[in-house]
Amino acid sequence: MKEHVRVLISEEEVDRRIAILGEQISREYSGKQIHLICVLKGGVFFMCELAKHITVPLTMDFMSVSSYGDATSSSGRVRIVKDLDHTIEGKDVLIVEDIVDSGNTLHYLADMLGSRKPASLRICTLLDKPSRREAEVEVQYSGFEIPDAFVVGYGLDYKQLYRNLPYIGVVEFEEE
Ligand code: IMP
Ligand code: MG
Repeated sequence: MKEHVRVLISEEEVDRRIAILGEQISREYSGKQIHLICVLKGGVFFMCELAKHITVPLTMDFMSVSSYGDATSSSGRVRIVKDLDHTIEGKDVLIVEDIVDSGNTLHYLADMLGSRKPASLRICTLLDKPSRREAEVEVQYSGFEIPDAFVVGYGLDYKQLYRNLPYIGVVEFEEE
């Protein structure tokens, strides 16, 4: 099957929304320092763009997790592939994710990182598919709510491709 990507959220809309999120986060963390945690690889484009719009001091760290599932859905079990380089104890931590789908990944991550005694722990996601939720996740900052479709771009992949698209697109499959 051949796939085709249809634009769902344009580059201009994504960039505008991220700027607004950055301003909101800067206001709400005024007087503090933020420790951004990027969930690789999908969160990387979003975190870099978001960080450019945050005006309070910030530090960054990266972690990589893999959820046991197939190409388009995740299970409840999550494995840490790369842990953080730095301690989060006493820090105001903001997890930056590409998308909350079933919620399984973030439910696990928030639990795990919460146990490491950060001063605070919040979640910022570019996309949210609330209709797919299986595990409860408290998301404080969300870019866009989207319908139940498989999306790519801005860090999100299908079979590791399309992460570099500067917009969010829906993958559509066509018979050859
Ligand atoms: P979860 O189902 O909320 O645990 O999401 C796990 C991960 O699956 C997300 O962080 C994404 O990396 C990936 N994912 C979920 N939905 C999509 C999608 O529509 N396109 C690409 N990746 C997705
Ligand atoms: Mg992800």
